[in-house]
Amino acid sequence: MKTQIKKSWAEPYRMKMVELLKMTTRAQRQKAIKEAGYNTFLLKSAEVYIDLLTDSGTSAMSDRQWAGMMVGDEAYAGSSNFYHLEETIRKYYGYKYIIPTHQGRGAENILSKILIKKGDIVPGNMYFTTTRLHQELAGGTFTDIIIDEAHDPLNPHPFKGNVDLTKLDKVVKKYGAKRIPYISIATNVNMAGGQPISMKNLKELRAYTKKNGIRIIHDMTRVAENAYFIQQREKGYQNKSIAQIVKEICSYTDGATMSAKKDALVNIGGFLATNEWDVYEEARNMVVVYEGLHTYGGLAGRDMEAMAIGIVESLDDFHQHARVGQVEYLGHKMMEFGIPIVQPIGGHGIFVDAKAFLPHLTQDQFPAQTLAAEIYADSGVRTMERGVVSAGRKANGENYYPKLELVRFTIPRRVYTQAHMDVIAESTYNVFKQRDKIKGLKMVYEPKYLRFFQARFEKLG
Ligand code: F0G
Repeated sequence: MKTQIKKSWAEPYRMKMVELLKMTTRAQRQKAIKEAGYNTFLLKSAEVYIDLLTDSGTSAMSDRQWAGMMVGDEAYAGSSNFYHLEETIRKYYGYKYIIPTHQGRGAENILSKILIKKGDIVPGNMYFTTTRLHQELAGGTFTDIIIDEAHDPLNPHPFKGNVDLTKLDKVVKKYGAKRIPYISIATNVNMAGGQPISMKNLKELRAYTKKNGIRIIHDMTRVAENAYFIQQREKGYQNKSIAQIVKEICSYTDGATMSAKKDALVNIGGFLATNEWDVYEEARNMVVVYEGLHTYGGLAGRDMEAMAIGIVESLDDFHQHARVGQVEYLGHKMMEFGIPIVQPIGGHGIFVDAKAFLPHLTQDQFPAQTLAAEIYADSGVRTMERGVVSAGRKANGENYYPKLELVRFTIPRRVYTQAHMDVIAESTYNVFKQRDKIKGLKMVYEPKYLRFFQARFEKLG
């Protein structure tokens, strides 16, 4: 059962090792961001003061996880760390069969290749960059079935990750269930701003998919954060633990892909899980081609051990309270300064609405890309674009123009302090005060896949 937690979210840990931060001058940062083509992904980390590029692989491991690294069983086949990981996933998430992968997209690749045929349709609660690309490379077409509220930065809906079942039903009627290999459901939807799906919605979706014979594949990268929001906001879940809620979420799905670099507190790792023997057998065959043997999937034994321990730590109620509490603290600070952010405040970061911040720029002038570059130059805080650059192009070459044009301030877990949050909000406000003077960007280099990682820009005017 859930333990009673206090209102304050003081961290349930203390520090015994620190990493010194690097301070830079404005002149150094202006030079660095220009050389990086105004893309924060192309900065060197030595040029960054507070790094909010991503919460992926950037969290701090606990002493227990580090101790786990020391008991790595580096046998090529049948490592005991694999069996510990398998047992942990079965116990806490409830899936039957598990294949480790080097990270989330390794699992997405294998699963998409197994389940998707050319011409298939994959409905989902908003796209994620790598997930959709693997679906497309396998011959499928992603279709967005998230509720409309998710595309509106200010809509206060408590579960903006919910599926619009009417939209889904239209897709099923149009294409037929046979062309839909699965519905792609993310918990705590990244691109919507870290927004949860409700248990009620998930149960309704399960009933609908059962009736129509369609699978649900769960992108469970941030499932514990989603469970925290269910505990806080959904009727009937106040007295359930995060661990109980997570297990219930997983029980309404048929399989999962996981980037353990987020919720599960490791620097590298992921897995694919399924309850279907046939899918497992196929995946076990394929993992050998793309990742490594099915008992290590591209990971060292020690990585699997750290993951098994991290999964358990991620389900602790005090941990999630402090984790999301810190994000909310930053969000409230930003709001006090009048900075436009996505609401409700999400689980893994603050998403600044770049269209509202820089209303004088058109989407073709890359407002979110521009703002991330400006914030870095001003303060050394590294954020990232989640807008038209991340959205990329359709198969026919046309740009996607997403409604949300956001800058993500992603908070690594157990890494920064409340005082860092104050500095981040103050720095952003400093840029906000001078926003009228900010000019947009033009793209001068565009890679073919996932362009946001490596695209280069120049300043307009
Ligand atoms: N699914 C979601 C929801 C993600 O956020 C990510 C990664 C992946 C899948 C892919 O996992 O990186 O381990 O291959 N998101 C990172 C981010 C990159 O910064 O949001 P991966």
